[in-house]
Amino acid sequence: MKRKTLLKRTGPAIVILILAALSIFYLWSNAIINRAYPVPLANVYVPTDSASVKEGERLLHIEHCSDCHGARLTGQIFSDAEPLATLVAPNLTQIIPTYSNAEIERLLRDGVKKDGRSIFVMPSYMFRQLKEESILKIIAYLRTLQPLPNTPGLPRESTFHFSWRLKLIEGKIQSTASMINPNSPRLYIPKDTMQISFGRYLAMTACTACHGQNLKGEEGFSPDLIIASAYSEKDFFRLIRTGTALGDRKDIGMMSRVAKNNLSYLNDQEISSIYAYLKTKPTLKDEQH
Ligand code: HEC
Ligand code: HEC
Repeated sequence: MKRKTLLKRTGPAIVILILAALSIFYLWSNAIINRAYPVPLANVYVPTDSASVKEGERLLHIEHCSDCHGARLTGQIFSDAEPLATLVAPNLTQIIPTYSNAEIERLLRDGVKKDGRSIFVMPSYMFRQLKEESILKIIAYLRTLQPLPNTPGLPRESTFHFSWRLKLIEGKIQSTASMINPNSPRLYIPKDTMQISFGRYLAMTACTACHGQNLKGEEGFSPDLIIASAYSEKDFFRLIRTGTALGDRKDIGMMSRVAKNNLSYLNDQEISSIYAYLKTKPTLKDEQH
């Protein structure tokens, strides 16, 4: 048989096979993206007094919502996901009014959106370690936001490209809700006002989003926080308050940005406690995380 006729006969079959494989690929990845998480809503009582709202604003800064949702919370593309996906962290001043208090609480605690699907990238595994009253104060503050127009050019919704979908299927990227067991208790509520246990609580609720859930760092992205033991307390304060790292490095990238814009809202006692905890960390090898 001539090559040409072989191609004529098998060509359409190959095309059909490729199309079938592609449809399976998209259907499969869509199933992961659209998976529903049946996490029940809780009864929540959100405070409205001005002290709670003010503290909620401070906590919102520390939890660095603005690092992803934009300085005025009017939405931003999560650039770290490019070019795998265009993840749109939406305009909170517009979307929060469409959410009930219980739905915001579930989103922060379990990573489940109003429509029952999971969010991607947003670190609810960190927010869920916050004391319930702190989550409620954040909601109290969110409720005071006046609706503002979207950041110019903000796309309407996230799009997941081929390579993101491939990583989803391979299990290399996970949705936030799939990383969370909704029945797991809060692990780090400080037992007393002891500096170290308080410092651990703060590190577990302010640093894990980027330094990994056990603070051991994320390969190719962020260091093990054991590195803090190389800092004096004074230098550590300088890093958290101004973003200047040891050795007078004024701009070490993302850490400098998030320190200046967000972590600087931690008060003196909080920063000393985080430092005290991180200093002891090398000796806490058998610690359960
Ligand atoms: C690391 C980045 C990041 C941080 C920090 C972050 N978000 Fe998000 N958020 C996102 C992204 C990305 C999306 C859209 C995700 C998607 O399309 O799956 C999102 C979506 C949302 C949504 C919309 C959910 C929906 O129904 O579409 C709300 C509300 C929200 N975030 C609130 C918050 C609040 C409040 C905080 C701080 C306590 C916060 N986010 C912190 C990245 C982040
Ligand atoms: C938004 C992500 C993010 C958050 C939140 C974050 N970090 Fe970082 N941090 C980084 C990254 C990324 C680096 C590596 C340097 C860089 O690329 O900016 C880093 C580096 C560091 C370093 C090493 C600086 C050096 O000397 O090179 C220390 C110490 C540190 N972080 C402490 C903390 C502590 C403590 C917290 C919580 C209170 C925290 N970080 C929260 C992203 C973050």
